[in-house]
Amino acid sequence: MTDILAHTDAGVTTLTLNRVDKKNSIHRGMYSALADGVEQAAANPAVRVVLIQGHESVFSAGNDIGDFLDQPPTTQDSPVFRFLQAIATFEKPLIAAVAGPAVGIGTTLLLHCDLVYAGDNAAFSVPFVNLGLCPEAASSLLMPQMFGYHRAAEALLLGEPFFAEAALEVGLVNRVLPPTEVNAYAQAQARKLATKPLTSLVETKRLMKKGQQAPVLAVMAEEGQSFGRMLREPAAREAFSAFMQKRKPDFSQV
Ligand code: COA
Repeated sequence: MTDILAHTDAGVTTLTLNRVDKKNSIHRGMYSALADGVEQAAANPAVRVVLIQGHESVFSAGNDIGDFLDQPPTTQDSPVFRFLQAIATFEKPLIAAVAGPAVGIGTTLLLHCDLVYAGDNAAFSVPFVNLGLCPEAASSLLMPQMFGYHRAAEALLLGEPFFAEAALEVGLVNRVLPPTEVNAYAQAQARKLATKPLTSLVETKRLMKKGQQAPVLAVMAEEGQSFGRMLREPAAREAFSAFMQKRKPDFSQV
């Protein structure tokens, strides 16, 4: 799977989104490769940290919209849900390096990371409403908690992008850097973590997250039900067709 590059060195598994010509939009095969990478890192005692990164020009344009039209995920064992489950339950530190657009799951996956580093060109967006969809990845729970309700509502209802400084202000990212430096900085932080005792890293993360685990998984499952249904409904079909045909969607009938 060359659209996802997986590499392990110095206790760090680095998963690189590598489909830049399609803005690193993520198809089913990529979700499977990402889920495999995270699950293998969980099982391998030699791996202490996972880093997810894109390119200095783009992190991810979110789910592949052609896939949404042709092969919408149906069950909880679909590749996308497997990936979300894997990151939401990953016990070791998870880091992301984000530059350029981070759309949909490109933003919501960050809610499950422990550290996030962003390029000053980063543009985050969760345009689910504009696609006739609803939030996923427990973002309907985690975004209001992290951002405050009104800022989360602005992001989720209007679906407009917000930028690196705003993401820093709400605590979605830890640090903003020049885009060419983001991946290297995140890698250095990952390697720093990988020198620390794994038992302490895992126990510290468990203690910080334990109150959240059950509600996050419950909300993710509920969102998944709605999202799966809405993918097949007229609003989403119109939004996806419009994107593929490079025209504005017409929601006047839905
Ligand atoms: N699914 C499938 N293909 C995608 C895609 C996606 N989510 N995002 C981009 N692409 C493709 C485009 O169709 C285009 O393909 P082409 O060269 O064959 O025409 C190529 O990637 C480049 O995209 P383009 O839109 O021309 O790049 P841009 O720099 O003008 O804009 C984005 C970048 C990310 C802002 C824009 O591509 C975008 O909004 N994508 C859709 C995001 C989205 O709604 N994702 C779903 C979230 S649930």
